[in-house]
Amino acid sequence: MLNWDEYDESKKTVKPEPAQQEAANQTSISINKEIEKQPEENPNPIESGDRAKLAKEAVLELDTKEGEEELEGLAGRVQVDDKAMINCRADLNQLVPFKYDWAWQKYLDGSANHWMPQEINMTADIALWKSNDGLTEDERTIVKRNLGFFSTADSLVANNLVLAIYRLITNPECRQYILRQSFEEAIHTHAYQYCIESLAMDEGEIFNMYREIPSVAKKASWGLKYTKGISDPSFKTGTDETDKMLLKNLIAFYCVLEGIFFYCGFTQILSMGRRNKMTGTAEQFQYILRDESMHLNFGIDMINQIKIENPHLWDEQMRQEAAQMILEGTELEVQYARDTMPRGILGMNANMMEEYLQFIANRRLVQIGLEEEFEGATNPFPWMSEIMDLRKEKNFFETRVIEYQTGGALSWD
Ligand SMILES: [Fe+2]
Ligand SMILES: [Fe+2]
Repeated sequence: MLNWDEYDESKKTVKPEPAQQEAANQTSISINKEIEKQPEENPNPIESGDRAKLAKEAVLELDTKEGEEELEGLAGRVQVDDKAMINCRADLNQLVPFKYDWAWQKYLDGSANHWMPQEINMTADIALWKSNDGLTEDERTIVKRNLGFFSTADSLVANNLVLAIYRLITNPECRQYILRQSFEEAIHTHAYQYCIESLAMDEGEIFNMYREIPSVAKKASWGLKYTKGISDPSFKTGTDETDKMLLKNLIAFYCVLEGIFFYCGFTQILSMGRRNKMTGTAEQFQYILRDESMHLNFGIDMINQIKIENPHLWDEQMRQEAAQMILEGTELEVQYARDTMPRGILGMNANMMEEYLQFIANRRLVQIGLEEEFEGATNPFPWMSEIMDLRKEKNFFETRVIEYQTGGALSWD
């Protein structure tokens, strides 16, 4: 194999043959002639003073009809009744008048809950993670597995939002919330990265778990399956088949990924925080969970609104498929619970988690108008609901008080 030293050597020793030298000289001469000719090929170069003049002329000649053809439904001002969740022909650049107040309210609520990962003190976590006897091996596995799953899961959700859902949801107030949610997903990925970096974990190991650890990889690939078809730029809604594909994507991402796949990991990490272990990481997860519960509610509202506006899509076959998806998601999450908790830990075990997931699955089914599956399933972790409903000003671990009101909520009086 050549290296740079050999290259230098060969440059010194190898001389071109006379014929090659002649050909190289000819090429060099013709290139130089081309360079000399170039100014003549552009007899009217634009002087800097002319550029402004040309821009003025172009604006004077601007044909607005040409741009309007690109915008759909510009025939007039948008009326509330013109608006629809999918396949809408009204101008999507006009945010108001609002039709879906719930979507705009969630955008306002999400914005008022703004937070950033660096605001949370990770000092105690770093000391605990570095100490030899602070955590058991099972506890360490739980922290690593969850950072492994979530650090890429939120990217999957964000990519699904911006590359698939955004252009297919044809309503500006919903899109406004989807943009807010997309930024929150970026903050969540940032939060996981911040934990991984603070704890000096092996980044390659953690970020590749979604491919390398079966119980993590199965969840990721289950979700990706539903992004695949609709993220194709040529995919369009407008037929029963394609409208149902979009509906299935919403069920997969909002009801299953954000509504089931996050729950075992969140419960484990928050339980750790309640026992005064990894409190910084647990606090990050607490704020993420609050955002996620709003994402889930927004998704449920979108799904139900699409059903109301397109009742023919919610036929028997679709209802069966939707239930099957939620139950498959529950099964994958139970497997994840068994993999991450081979023994009882942190006051919980895999059987308790299975019951909790059945309780959650029942709720997801009912939220989109389907029947419960697991009769009598109860919530063995009522403290999880308390955390989700927590007032934003005070954090669960009572380490400090935070005011998250931001510019949008300021009073000018
Ligand atoms: Fe997230
Ligand atoms: Fe989310």
